[in-house]
Amino acid sequence: MKIVIIHGQSHKGSTYHIAHMLAEKISSDIKEFFLPKDFGEFCVGCTKCFTESETKCPHYEKLKPLTDAMDEANVIILASPVYVFHATGAMKAFLDHYGYRWMVHSPEESMFKKQGVCISTAAGAGMKSTNKDMMDREKETLEIEFEFEGEST
Ligand SMILES: Cc1cc2nc3c(=O)[nH]c(=O)nc-3n(C[C@H](O)[C@H](O)[C@H](O)COP(=O)(O)O)c2cc1C
Repeated sequence: MKIVIIHGQSHKGSTYHIAHMLAEKISSDIKEFFLPKDFGEFCVGCTKCFTESETKCPHYEKLKPLTDAMDEANVIILASPVYVFHATGAMKAFLDHYGYRWMVHSPEESMFKKQGVCISTAAGAGMKSTNKDMMDREKETLEIEFEFEGEST
């Protein structure tokens, strides 16, 4: 079972450890990436990924190791600390780069059988909206199902 963790932060705090604990329970085959350390670009809005090919994205080469790891994985874990009730800017900027994979544009067939998990931690509140930030994007662009949502209220 291949796991990929995309960390919405570059440090190893609460969110990192929780994501890792889950991944380790599933498999020892874990790849992980830290944002913005491993990918920190903003979408420039050129729309070439929609109209031509994602290979024309100015960040295609930088993003490729992360895209390849997600395409190869059975489980994708997106993890982010809550920053002002939402996912980190680095996570949002990362996910924006997969807008071209929306079902109405060019869905990636390999995504249909994957499992997705969204994890967030907060000092008090905002996990639900933060998980939704990631889940909405992952659902729409990656079309994968979810096993877990972190906040019950
Ligand atoms: C810029 C910033 C914004 C934050 N906003 C919130 C917030 O809206 N709600 C909350 O409960 N905690 C907030 N926190 C606290 C963190 O979400 C919380 O401490 C989290 O567990 C940190 O995870 P980490 O150890 O992985 O960095 C914020 C922290 C930072 C640095």
